[in-house]
Amino acid sequence: MDHATRYLPLQLIFPACRPAIRWLAQHFPDPPQTANMAARAAVNAASRQLMEAWRREGKAEARGRGAGAGTDDGDKLASVAGGKGGGGFRAVGGGLSSSSFMAAMMEGRRGAAREERMSDVEVIAQGFTFMLAGFETTANTLAAAAFLLATHPQAAERLAAEAVGVAGRELSQELLAEETLRMYPPLPFLMREAREEVDLGGGRTAPKGSFLVLHVHAMQSSESQFPHSERFMPERWLPESGGALGPADPHAYAPFGVGARMCVGYKLANMVSGRGCVCA
Ligand code: HEM
Repeated sequence: MDHATRYLPLQLIFPACRPAIRWLAQHFPDPPQTANMAARAAVNAASRQLMEAWRREGKAEARGRGAGAGTDDGDKLASVAGGKGGGGFRAVGGGLSSSSFMAAMMEGRRGAAREERMSDVEVIAQGFTFMLAGFETTANTLAAAAFLLATHPQAAERLAAEAVGVAGRELSQELLAEETLRMYPPLPFLMREAREEVDLGGGRTAPKGSFLVLHVHAMQSSESQFPHSERFMPERWLPESGGALGPADPHAYAPFGVGARMCVGYKLANMVSGRGCVCA
């Protein structure tokens, strides 16, 4: 939060005033907000450039098909798609890799009914969300895993032995990633707005419209949920430990969130973090 705009805590403290605070942030930005707006503008401009190139190449592709194979346009498209002839990829546009997320969205719009078709702004917003949600979180997890391995040489040695196949899978990469995410969740709290009165248990309720913060880091550091919670123990996740090392309540572990808005990229994130831990 040190480098965040001062408008962020204001939005959290006064959620009902969010539209006014946003207006102020836009019209009277402080330095972090100015940097944020400049970064968003850069992403927007780059996305629009890619989308424009995609549209141009789409037209070229249609012309190329009309004129037969082997045209300049056809060659250009093939090189964009990873080699002449497509090499298993379909040519979808200049500057955009055919296997990219944005290409998938652009391609998906083609056949969609008008009312279901994503607008340019929606495509850019989705791309931005995935970049923001997927990049920083995974990078922070890998940084934390590297730190934990550097400060726990025995675990690092066991993992290295497993990676080269000279030991079993006692301390697998996945468990290491799980324990890293327990100790250093990249998103340490989740936020929700109560759409109706919520029963919090113990006779307490949160009225409709409340702003609720679920402190994931506190939950995952709780001694009652994770014995020796301050210790780095990937083995706590082994089935052999029989749950003795936590969590006492499975919902006390939520680095990817919970419910309908849970992280959509958690499988990819687990895979990347696990493999990344081996490299670290
Ligand atoms: C270690 C890596 C990651 C962590 C710890 C993480 C964690 C989270 C958390 C806590 C949320 C909010 C869930 C909630 O409010 O209940 C979230 C949402 C989301 N994550 Fe991740 N994430 C990771 C990687 C990724 C990756 C790799 C992608 C995509 C490629 C991704 C895409 C998203 C998206 C799109 C959302 C918003 C979902 C929605 O609001 O419906 N995340 N993530």
